[in-house]
Amino acid sequence: MNDLRFPLHFTWGVATSAYQIEGAALEDGRGPSIWDTFCHTPGKIIDGASGDVACEHYHRLEEDLDLIRSLGVSAYRFSVSWPRVQPDGSGEFNERGLAFYDRLVDGLLARGLEAHVTLYHWDLPQALQDAGGWGTRETVQHFVRYAQTVATRLGDRVRSIATLNEPWCSAVLGHETGEHAPGLRDRALSRQVAHHLLLAHGMALQAMRASGVRAELGIVLNLNPAYAASDAPEDLRAATLFDGHFNRFYLDPLLRGHYPADILEDLGADAPRVQPGDLEIIRQPLDFLGINYYSRTLVSASGNARPEDAQYTDMGWEVYPDGLRDLLLRLDREYDLPPVFITENGAAYADRLEGGRVRDPERVAYLRAHLAAVRSALEAGVKVKGYFAWSLMDNFEWAWGYTKRFGLVYVDYATQRRVVKESGEWYGSLVRGLEP
Ligand code: NOJ
Repeated sequence: MNDLRFPLHFTWGVATSAYQIEGAALEDGRGPSIWDTFCHTPGKIIDGASGDVACEHYHRLEEDLDLIRSLGVSAYRFSVSWPRVQPDGSGEFNERGLAFYDRLVDGLLARGLEAHVTLYHWDLPQALQDAGGWGTRETVQHFVRYAQTVATRLGDRVRSIATLNEPWCSAVLGHETGEHAPGLRDRALSRQVAHHLLLAHGMALQAMRASGVRAELGIVLNLNPAYAASDAPEDLRAATLFDGHFNRFYLDPLLRGHYPADILEDLGADAPRVQPGDLEIIRQPLDFLGINYYSRTLVSASGNARPEDAQYTDMGWEVYPDGLRDLLLRLDREYDLPPVFITENGAAYADRLEGGRVRDPERVAYLRAHLAAVRSALEAGVKVKGYFAWSLMDNFEWAWGYTKRFGLVYVDYATQRRVVKESGEWYGSLVRGLEP
């Protein structure tokens, strides 16, 4: 397939995050995070589940590393659980926690796989939340110390370190809509949290660089391109605002050193309080920008529209591969764009294990179409360095518990058996250069 030919040194990977797969929530000195608290609050998670056990990855590390290797990919993106390595987020570091990530990284290297680390994939130590969480500047200082400690420990053996995963989700789902931990509903707080997250990113980058960390340093954003449902001025304006709150509010400070003026105006009194110098800190040179792309949003002034002839995944998200190409081209045109990794892309479907196999042709079609979009952006000159499928295996999908399956590998939660889905086999043969 010509539309799926990629550069020789393109990075091919699969991705996960700590809380979604590790389990072992109370073991080896791990402290509680805001997600432990949130999951154990009745009514927050659709199936009443939690990450207490998840995929038992903490206990199945070697087996899972063999599994990654067997898929044929060249890289693995994972996150470090802050409360596993620093139980209360501000005090002593937990050697047993750090040792786990040492084993993980060494295990990847021993199998010839690149390690891509995310420092914060939403699991804030609960003790820091009790002291005000991301609403306070103290949390920023604590994050910098945590980042520096982990980066110094692992940075000589990993290809990349991302400070944050999807700060929009932490800020808005966690503090405005309340769908995610810590489950608060306060728009002004959510934007202050966004600002502190970005500041934490900038300060951590400075600190890691000052300590001589050799890995490529960056951040991961979830970008959701907005398309106006019509050319009517009110729909166009609604799409611009949606794009501003979702995308530009993160891209502009990181890459241009200022918040978008139209969004500050729209927020009015809910705009974040910014101290002199903050924006210069946020705008650190990035070795890479990680982009998580799943879908687009069709925006109209009367609410978001749902195109009827489109296909939808099990999350109810429209399958819209052109959005990924459009997004990459736009970023390249409008910003001074660093090299890009697609750090997540994938789809949930209601997979079933039948006769020992999982047939998931929709996921293959989804991946194929999105990879063709990446390939076409590459051809247009965008510097995309790699692609990570979300996810290595089915796991804890946050507020959706275990009801949504994103894996290339099926997990039978009753037995913890892993079964490679047809999409996993397809992805493996593609990345080995054997695409039929
Ligand atoms: C983004 C998040 O980073 C990840 O944790 C989540 O499971 C996927 N998207 C799918 O929703």
